[in-house]
Amino acid sequence: MKADIGLVGLAVMGENLVLNMESHGFTIAVYNRTVEKVDAFTSGRGAGKHIIGAHSPKELVAVLKKPRIVMIMVRAGSAVDDTIAQIAPLLEPGDIIVDGGNSNYQDTMRRLAELEGKGLLYVGTGVSGGEEGALNGPSLMPGGSEAAWPHIKPIFQAIAAKVDDGSPCCDWVGPGGAGHFVKMVHNGIEYGDMQLIAEVYHMMRDQLGMTPDEMADVFEAWNKGELDSYLVAITRDILRFKDEDGLPIVDKILDAAGQKGTGKWTGITALDFSVPVTLIVEAVFARCLSAMKDERVRAVKILGKPSGARFKGSRGAFIEDLGKALYAAKIISYAQGFMLLREAAAEYGWKLNYGSIALMWRGGCIIRSRFLGRIKEAFDAEPSLSNLVFAPFFAAQVLENESALRNVVGEAVASGIPVPALSSALEWFDGLRTERLPANLLQAQRDYFGAHTYERIDKPRGEFFHTNWTGHGGSTAASTYVV
Ligand code: 6PG
Repeated sequence: MKADIGLVGLAVMGENLVLNMESHGFTIAVYNRTVEKVDAFTSGRGAGKHIIGAHSPKELVAVLKKPRIVMIMVRAGSAVDDTIAQIAPLLEPGDIIVDGGNSNYQDTMRRLAELEGKGLLYVGTGVSGGEEGALNGPSLMPGGSEAAWPHIKPIFQAIAAKVDDGSPCCDWVGPGGAGHFVKMVHNGIEYGDMQLIAEVYHMMRDQLGMTPDEMADVFEAWNKGELDSYLVAITRDILRFKDEDGLPIVDKILDAAGQKGTGKWTGITALDFSVPVTLIVEAVFARCLSAMKDERVRAVKILGKPSGARFKGSRGAFIEDLGKALYAAKIISYAQGFMLLREAAAEYGWKLNYGSIALMWRGGCIIRSRFLGRIKEAFDAEPSLSNLVFAPFFAAQVLENESALRNVVGEAVASGIPVPALSSALEWFDGLRTERLPANLLQAQRDYFGAHTYERIDKPRGEFFHTNWTGHGGSTAASTYVV
């Protein structure tokens, strides 16, 4: 018996992907660096199935059909390089290595160049949906050597999540690091969605004094409308969950968020590309601030708590506004995420299909939602759409919910509840619609102190001017460049 695919790395994601592939009729060879895990798996969860245990990379490669496909599911970083170093020398030109971890897309581009140089094919794929998704249908975002796609497509599309019409949440994303780039942006958006939900929860808890059960009822209702999504659904379930003593467990969890770095990468990339992905960056910093627990406790002792205004309005109307604000901010966050994808496509010459990316995220992954169906429709109707909020549907939706967002942010500011993601959404939206920002003054300042020059509204774009502001600065201008 020969295997259709080999998989290295039997942690929970790897194991579940193997079981998912097997349940779709594929034979999988498995290898793990700690070899006991191979036997534990083949005699445990993998027993009696079309799964071949290999005790060395050589054994793994020997049982694969050609062209060989080896999928790596190890921790992102040097472990991927180490695994490639073990596997690649055993392969022949035309064989395929697939990295399914949360690798940095730049690492993927480097590995791709190295392996293609040896005649091998390399795919960096996003895999989202956690352990349950890996087992029952993840969202898969593969990119890299396109010649590999026909070989991995039948396996990937079989195991991926499906949307209502049966379309798989997996398609070819593009060359180079496109697959891992799209996964990185997915994770950044995940950070944004989670932070927005957390801020709304904070307002419900501290502004309205709602109990977790009351909040769960609201999230349950929201999950039946436009906010219908996995993250809203699990928030409802988390809020309802009781500890052994019968009290809500959410109240006992320390408010110090962790992170593995993919949100941070999204922010760094946004800065590198000069794309204002403000909401995701605020979401990353909100996690950083939360993690400074001791410092915050100290701050309260020294500076006291914000002593803002108490809420005086109608509770019911405000809860409705919270839902609308969440929705408006979510539209803005996705608009920002897609702006970053567009910039990366321009930078790297990738032809990204945004409708297809929305479909890949529509099911299986952590940010899956009804809303992504709407995004797919918007990009299908206008593939070259430059900004999601310009699509007629989203333009109307964001404007309809704008006053609620403004009201929620206003209340939060007045009462001293931090809402960095919600407010950054509003700031971005206001900035986008401001034809004349104060950057004219900023340009004048730059020119004043450093002769950095400016463009004029009464002259064509691209013509730069310098003013001798002080009378003794001279008329020599600095050249324009970016470090
Ligand atoms: C997914 C998730 C996953 C991510 C975790 C943890 O799509 O299944 O994005 O890939 O690793 O959500 O991320 P943080 O530890 O950074 O929150």
